[in-house]
Amino acid sequence: MSAARSVLLIVGGGIAAYKALELVRLLRKAGIAVTPILTEGGAQFVTAMSLSVLAGAKTRQALCSQEDEAEIDHIALSRAADLVVVAPASANLIAKAANGHADDLATTVLLATDKAVLMAPAMNVRMWQHPAVRRNVERLIADGVGMVGPDEGEMACGEYGPGRMTEPQAIFEAILARLETAPKPLARRHVLVTAGPTHEPIDPVRYLANRSSGRQGYAIAAALAELGAAVTLVSGPVALDPPKGASLVRVETARQMLDACRAALPADAAVMVAAVADWRPSVAADHKLKKVTAGAVVDLVENPDILAAIAAPGPQRPRLVVGFAAETQDLQANAAAKLRAKGCDWIVANDVSQEGVMGGEDNSVTVVTAQGGEAWPRLAKTQVAAQLAQRIAAALA
Ligand code: C5P
Repeated sequence: MSAARSVLLIVGGGIAAYKALELVRLLRKAGIAVTPILTEGGAQFVTAMSLSVLAGAKTRQALCSQEDEAEIDHIALSRAADLVVVAPASANLIAKAANGHADDLATTVLLATDKAVLMAPAMNVRMWQHPAVRRNVERLIADGVGMVGPDEGEMACGEYGPGRMTEPQAIFEAILARLETAPKPLARRHVLVTAGPTHEPIDPVRYLANRSSGRQGYAIAAALAELGAAVTLVSGPVALDPPKGASLVRVETARQMLDACRAALPADAAVMVAAVADWRPSVAADHKLKKVTAGAVVDLVENPDILAAIAAPGPQRPRLVVGFAAETQDLQANAAAKLRAKGCDWIVANDVSQEGVMGGEDNSVTVVTAQGGEAWPRLAKTQVAAQLAQRIAAALA
C-alpha cells in the first residue's frame, strides 16, 4: 500500500481516543497518509501534538482557523482523502452526524465529504443501548456510513457490555478493506508530466544543461499513477528509475520535449515540472569543436516555451495545466505574473533559495491560482507530490 492512499481521521471525545494514536501508527506503518482532525472533546483526552507527530502531518482543530484555511480549506480537506474515519465516534458526534449538524470542523467535514465514512463508536454501554443512539446509528447506516464495532467487554467506567471501541488492529483492517475497494479518483484520466533538465547540444560531446534532478517530477508522476491516472512522463536526462505505473518518454532537448508532449495529447491535465533550458546553441556542431583560445562565443537562440504552448487555448488544451516556477524572491507575485503570462491554471512556486530544495529531498512550495496563493509547509518531495496529486484529482472530479 502506498502513501498515495490517505485517510482523514476524526478523533472524537472519550477515553478511547488514546487508541486512535495506535491506529495512526498502524496506518503510517502501512504507508497510508493520515490527516488528523481533533474535536474539542477529543482534545480532552489526547493532544494535537501527539497526533501530529505520529501522523507526520498537522492536526486540524478549528473550523475557522485563518492559518489552516489558507493552507487548505475545509471543503478541500473533506475530499482530499480516500476515506474518512471517525475513531472514537462518541454518542454526541454520532448524533450530530446523523442529524446533519455542522458546528465544528469534524461535523462540517462529515457533511461536505464525497468519500466513504467509517465510524468506530465508543461509549458507555447504557448510552450505546439508548434508543436515541440506536436511532442515530441506524440512520447513519442507512446513509451509507460504515460501522466497525463497538466491542463487548469491560469499560473504563467499570461497567461491562457493548460500547468499547474496537481495537486499533481491527479498525486498521476494516480501513484496509475499504481502501482496497475504493475506486481510484484518477481512473480513466490521462495526465502528462514533464520532468528533469534538458540538454542542449553544443557539439556531439558538449551540452548546456542545469542542475534539475527530476525528483519532484518523478514523484508527481508516481503519485498520479497511484491515484489511477494513466501518466505519460516526458523526461529529460536524469539518473532516476522510471516511476511505477507511468509511461516514460525519454528526450534530451527542449524541442524534443515539446514534440513528445504534443504527441502525448489529448490529456485531462498537464503538470510541467521540467527545468527546460531557456536557450540553446543556434547550431549544434556535428563534430567535436576544437579547443579555442580566449574569446570563443556560443551563439544562443530561445527555446520554445513548452508550458505556454500546451496551455494555449485550443481543442487539445488539457482541462488543467499546472506549471512550476523556481523562485528566490517575491515568490507569490512572480508566480502570479507567470500564471498570466503562460496561460496556465496553477503555478506551483518553489522557493529554491531554501537550503536543500534544489536537487534535495524536500520542497517548500506555494500553490498559486487565479484566486490567490496557498503556502504549504516544507515537505518531502514525495509528500508534495501526494498532496498535489490529490488536488489534481479533486479539480478533475
Ligand atoms: O519561465 P520559467 O522557466 O520560470 O517557467 C517555469 C515553468 O515553465 C515550468 O513549469 C517549466 O516546466 C515551464 N517551461 C517550459 N518550457 C520552457 C521554459 C519553462 O515548459 N522553455
